[in-house]
Amino acid sequence: DAPLVIAMDGPSGTGKSSAARRLAGSLGAAYLDTGAMYRVATLHALRAGVDLTDAGAVDHATRELPLVIGTDPTHELVELAGEDVRVEIRGAAVTGAVSAVSAVPAVRERLVAAQRALVEQAGRIVVEGRDIGTVVLPAADLKVYLTASAQARAARRADQDGSADRAAVLADVQRRDHLDSTRVASPLRPADDAVTVDTSEIDLDGVLDRLHALVQQVE
Ligand code: C5P
Repeated sequence: DAPLVIAMDGPSGTGKSSAARRLAGSLGAAYLDTGAMYRVATLHALRAGVDLTDAGAVDHATRELPLVIGTDPTHELVELAGEDVRVEIRGAAVTGAVSAVSAVPAVRERLVAAQRALVEQAGRIVVEGRDIGTVVLPAADLKVYLTASAQARAARRADQDGSADRAAVLADVQRRDHLDSTRVASPLRPADDAVTVDTSEIDLDGVLDRLHALVQQVE
């Protein structure tokens, strides 16, 4: 199969991960969850006990990051020093701290380099994150920016986490959006040549239909 690089960006709760994973599976492509990489860096910094508001300390604590991330869309693999951390990186402690760690430019530089190497290796890949179309892979064949209303995103997140407290989930979604889109280093925003897909009113199958139509235009 010919190389194909698809960048999928957007805030949390848009159904981005499910859509990206399924799109990769049906295209016979690899899948890279860059958010998981920032989450592992965050877990590592938390375990080191550093002050997360101290960018220098976060940089130092994550300089050595024994991270393994898989790119098979049907098999999630995330390890920190050989330990399976798939569950822990989705927990409240990491989710609450990840925006601080991902705002540190030195952390981003290292993870972006690792992401580009994984993309190079894969050839055909769907990469999801916040800055894939703008910074990591500006020459991607297709750039999609998924968006949805804050309410729709909070409802999805609450379903995913099994959380009954919609208001708290909405507050967390809005807090993280604000931090991610106002940070100085690689803020969350659509690339100029990205196609925006609003998922507030469409389900996963609808999103997949839309994505397949977009892929057909570039393949
Ligand atoms: O996608 P996910 O919610 O797992 O991402 C967690 C956090 O990682 C985001 O809120 C953001 O702070 C950071 N992130 C980033 N750049 C990416 C992917 C994720 O800054 N490409």
